[in-house]
Amino acid sequence: MKFLTSRIFFLCIGIVILITLFFSSCSNQILQFPHLVKQVLPLRGMNLGNALEAPVEGEWGVVIEDGFFQIIRQAGFELVRIPIRWSAHALKGFPYTIDPDFFQRIDHVIQQALNQELAVVINVHHYEELNWFPADHQERFLSIWKQIALRYATYPELLFFELLNEPTGNLTPSTWNSIQNKTIQEIRQIDPTRWLIVTPADWGSAFSLKYLSLPDDPYLIATFHLYEPFLFTHQGASWVPSYYHTVGVIYPGPPDTPLQLHPDTLEVPWIVRWFEDYHELPYPQNPSGPIPVRRALNTARDWSVKTGIPIWLGEFGAYEMADLESRARWTQTVRQESEDRQIPWTYWEFAAGFGAYCLNTHQWVQPLLDALIPSDKNEVDQLP
Ligand code: BGC
Repeated sequence: MKFLTSRIFFLCIGIVILITLFFSSCSNQILQFPHLVKQVLPLRGMNLGNALEAPVEGEWGVVIEDGFFQIIRQAGFELVRIPIRWSAHALKGFPYTIDPDFFQRIDHVIQQALNQELAVVINVHHYEELNWFPADHQERFLSIWKQIALRYATYPELLFFELLNEPTGNLTPSTWNSIQNKTIQEIRQIDPTRWLIVTPADWGSAFSLKYLSLPDDPYLIATFHLYEPFLFTHQGASWVPSYYHTVGVIYPGPPDTPLQLHPDTLEVPWIVRWFEDYHELPYPQNPSGPIPVRRALNTARDWSVKTGIPIWLGEFGAYEMADLESRARWTQTVRQESEDRQIPWTYWEFAAGFGAYCLNTHQWVQPLLDALIPSDKNEVDQLP
């Protein structure tokens, strides 16, 4: 009798443990569900900007050296994105042949990256005529991609194709959807399983991911770019409108003393209001704070969870007109908040105006590197 009682006792304990395990695993899944972003690309990457997407490599101050890839790999990055202006190196008329010397240069650069076991994303960058005259340039764009797909069809799967950088202008969501989908179709006839990176209209904004209408294709990743708050990241940049030319914006706000606004800034009501908030609101609500970063990342994460399409932050960075401490703090915020949402990222960029590396001193800009690749030693102070 005593023997039977103790068996029943242990049986009951066993059942209780099993029930507990079952429910705790369910609740884990439920808790984790909002964060289930499918990951394909490695977590941490670097853009090799201002080199091959200049009209001629070197014209914007950067020529890609073979040694860059080892420097990048050794610092802890696992991916490089290589922006390329193919449109400046292909015949203007049919058959739109890509210059063979340029192709060889790209072969070489890709190979250097692969030799370091870096994943490589190549894209079509700064095809401005396509943005403004899509109907006239669609055929040429498709032909450029056909040539690229044929050339690299046998390359390892660590090579990724991103169809276009930051569609804008007359590439409205519907025009761009149509061209993007034709391009996917064209590439699929040559290479059925290469991972393709698609991009939303409106400069690749997270908020325009919802306008993407994509074919049913299991090898698609979507990208978006994040430069919020733009009045901080692009302050004083020569290529943006002059109402962004108020400099001295820090991250996070508010500043101790109010800024003197650029005369053109004063002409734009929403920007004047932005600066009022920047001067007054405490850190958690300040517009130069983590709120706009989180909003964009949440939007991208939620879209990815809903569609099942992996998401990738292909560019984020703060231009050198901002002070270095603020840039490092902003970079740390974006990097950390992305990783918290399991969104892989790629910093804009290696060695030019947003540069994390200095070509003159051959050194990393340490505060930026620390923000990107934290270690016990070099973790940047966490913001509250
Ligand atoms: C552009 C760069 C620019 C960067 C930040 C990139 O997509 O190609 O020219 O510096 O965005 O604005």
